[in-house]
Amino acid sequence: MKLHIAVLPGDGIGPEVIAQAVKALKSIATVYDHIFTFEYGLVGAAAINKTGIALPEETLALCKKADTILFGAIGSPKYENDPEAKIRPEQGLLGLRKELDLHTNIRPVVAYEDLSNKSPLRKKWIKDVNLCFYRELTGGIYFGEKTFSEDGNTATDTCTYTRNEIERVAHRAFKAAQSRKHKLTLVDKANVLASSKLWRKIIKEIAIQYPDVAVNYLYVDQVAMQLILNPKQFDIILIENMFGDIISEEASVIVGSIGLLASASIGDKYSMFEPIHGAYYKATDRGIANPIAAILSAAMLLEHFDLYEEANLIKKAVDKSLQLQITTPDLNTKYDNISTSKVGDFIEDFINNPEETNLNFTNIHLGQSTII
Ligand code: IPM
Ligand code: MN
Repeated sequence: MKLHIAVLPGDGIGPEVIAQAVKALKSIATVYDHIFTFEYGLVGAAAINKTGIALPEETLALCKKADTILFGAIGSPKYENDPEAKIRPEQGLLGLRKELDLHTNIRPVVAYEDLSNKSPLRKKWIKDVNLCFYRELTGGIYFGEKTFSEDGNTATDTCTYTRNEIERVAHRAFKAAQSRKHKLTLVDKANVLASSKLWRKIIKEIAIQYPDVAVNYLYVDQVAMQLILNPKQFDIILIENMFGDIISEEASVIVGSIGLLASASIGDKYSMFEPIHGAYYKATDRGIANPIAAILSAAMLLEHFDLYEEANLIKKAVDKSLQLQITTPDLNTKYDNISTSKVGDFIEDFINNPEETNLNFTNIHLGQSTII
């Protein structure tokens, strides 16, 4: 298959983790005889520094002509401390989501056996957790009308949802549930918010079309608790934009590190794949950023184009790296010298030689080999 991939590494640790994801994709292309081409663009603070805006026209044009997009992270401390800045790195990401109409954000949360001691939650509760968020990504309070009064004392954000916005993400979520455990939870605040009442009404209507999917309805405050108390009860979690941002980040605690969570943002025409962690500025260029979320995002990209065997090979490589503790310090209890690019090298080599995972192979990766 030929794929032209727009690569937007962005800020902070974005470039270094995306470099590992690109390495994995390049090895997949070699092993399976695909032609993947990569074209780089600026976004976020990196774009502001060079062009004055967070989403330059050129970047948007690149994304529109490419087959898909691989995205790193955006954000910089320069803007964190200036909430009134008119131009902000986030505009790059939010602008892309809106301009490309990437309405459905898919965030899988899978607990790895090998990492069960990394989560602060009890092993028996997180074992076998396998849930997936379907977060609405282009509507709600993020994109509703905003006001800031002239006297600087009053501000509003409006949460608006339309039937169409709810239906399109909902159908995708129900279909996903059909191919999984046939369970869908709608997260809302329908006891208080009008927009949530609309969500609940529409989901009740749609549920009739999917009789093989068991639907339950939970308020977001209950979900915040249930996700920690008993995450195994969930399969597909359908959730509006803002609640999805918060609750999916909470879910990273189950897995043990936010450095593991990948995501896909899908529209009717365009698609974008990105790790859910942010720019993590403090870690920039220190070789400690976990590249697995970016690498698993590349696997989601392959799945989107029906390259399941290829995606599975990346996932197998990741499993192996976790099992052998070829991981960055956020997960490692055994070795302290494994850098971002070393993890990427391991994944790359595994893709090229999946059968050669003996001890010596591991040692080579740790720089401890006696036979070279
Ligand atoms: C995310 C991020 C973004 C969001 C920010 C960077 C605008 O937190 O993708 O979860 O809030 O959606
Ligand atoms: Mn977030």
